[in-house]
Amino acid sequence: MQPEFLIIHQQVATHVAHIQLNRPEALNALNLQLMSELKDALKALDADPQVRAVVLSGNEKAFAAGADITQMAGKSAIDMYNTDQFSTWDAIKKTKKPLIAAVSGFALGGGCELAMLCDMIVASETARFGQPEIKIGVMPGAGGTQRLTRAIGKARAMEMVLTGRFITAEEALAAGLINRVTPVALYLEEAVKLAKEVAVMSPLAVKMAKEAVLKAFDSSLEEGLHFERRNFYLLFASEDQKEGMQAFLEKRAPAFKGE
Ligand code: CAA
Repeated sequence: MQPEFLIIHQQVATHVAHIQLNRPEALNALNLQLMSELKDALKALDADPQVRAVVLSGNEKAFAAGADITQMAGKSAIDMYNTDQFSTWDAIKKTKKPLIAAVSGFALGGGCELAMLCDMIVASETARFGQPEIKIGVMPGAGGTQRLTRAIGKARAMEMVLTGRFITAEEALAAGLINRVTPVALYLEEAVKLAKEVAVMSPLAVKMAKEAVLKAFDSSLEEGLHFERRNFYLLFASEDQKEGMQAFLEKRAPAFKGE
């Protein structure tokens, strides 16, 4: 079934897919259906051997202005517990291929959390990142207190979470939250360029390297190093390792197949 709130483009030649959040009338507020469609789309792209990297964007005005407040406002704690809306986020987190967020305009609440769930963030100079949940009587619920703190440190995360203050793209860049800032006209192009740069690498090595970097967030150094080493050794079972090293020795560009 065609998703109602997403537009999906796939560039077969470059192995890059692009998912655009498409609920502009509500600044791409992340309702349950949109998140479920996103989970399904990412699962399908993750399983598609033609796809090696995925760009996730909104539109110029908003990446996403957070979870859908209209949908949540009247709910009880038991409704929230039973619906367990963040379980879709757990599924999205399992995406093995690299995800690059292309952010312009608002990335607030769940929108900021969704961008942080991606592996890299390219932002337009109009991007604004924030966790304003405190202003509506709640707090971040999809990773904002954890991923933001790890990305930009306690002092800055605490201020954003406790005051709801937005930060600009330049501030986010200086704080280490995002990878780069571009003029508005170029943010999507720049994100796709970054995705293409990753997509020419060995897809297996990319997936295992992503997995190892993410391991750094929830393991001790010793465990993380052990995990990294196992993935490094494991890659020697791949044809891409043979091809990559042979191509280096023959002074030519490698042709990786993901095998
Ligand atoms: N949920 C539902 N609808 C939203 C929304 C949201 N998070 N954000 C914006 N909208 C809707 C508005 O209600 C409005 O709809 P109508 O035209 O039907 O009234 C439309 O999008 C345009 O928004 P505004 O008129 O408010 O636009 P603005 O330019 O004046 O303000 C804004 C933009 C500052 C982003 C403001 O919309 C805003 O503060 N939005 C809410 C941001 C927020 O609190 N996000 C956190 C949500 S909770 C969360 O995300 C929990 C979590 O951890 C997952």
